[in-house]
Amino acid sequence: MQSFFFLLAAALGTSASIARYAPLEINTPVPGAAECEPLLITFSGGSPPYFVAYARVVQTNPILPTPLAKFAPVTGTSLTWIVNATLGSSLILDVKDSTGVIATSAPFTVITGAGDGCINGN
Ligand SMILES: *[C@@H]1O[C@H](CO)[C@@H](O)[C@H](O)[C@H]1NC(C)=O
Repeated sequence: MQSFFFLLAAALGTSASIARYAPLEINTPVPGAAECEPLLITFSGGSPPYFVAYARVVQTNPILPTPLAKFAPVTGTSLTWIVNATLGSSLILDVKDSTGVIATSAPFTVITGAGDGCINGN
């Protein structure tokens, strides 16, 4: 009887850990991020809570070391960002989950949106 319960517990534990979470993924904005408009950033899988560590500008020469935006931890699977990046910038979104796994989007571009009024200095 004791071993039956042990096996039952082991089986439940195993299936729970297998079914637990899909791989962490973050969606790439298509066709791009509209300048000064709200962008819904969505991700899936991984272990909540999620920490959107950085949305950063990628330049080839040089790559900017400082993230363009850093968001507070979220427990859901989406957040909204007002795209305060200049037209034509190439960006990548990263999300980090509670276990430290990081998922990265494909590069995307800042496209024409509501103008540049949301960017400092404009
Ligand atoms: C752009 O938006 C992010 C997120 O709201 C903010 O952290 C960042 O400081 C903003 N950058 C500028 C230059 O306003």
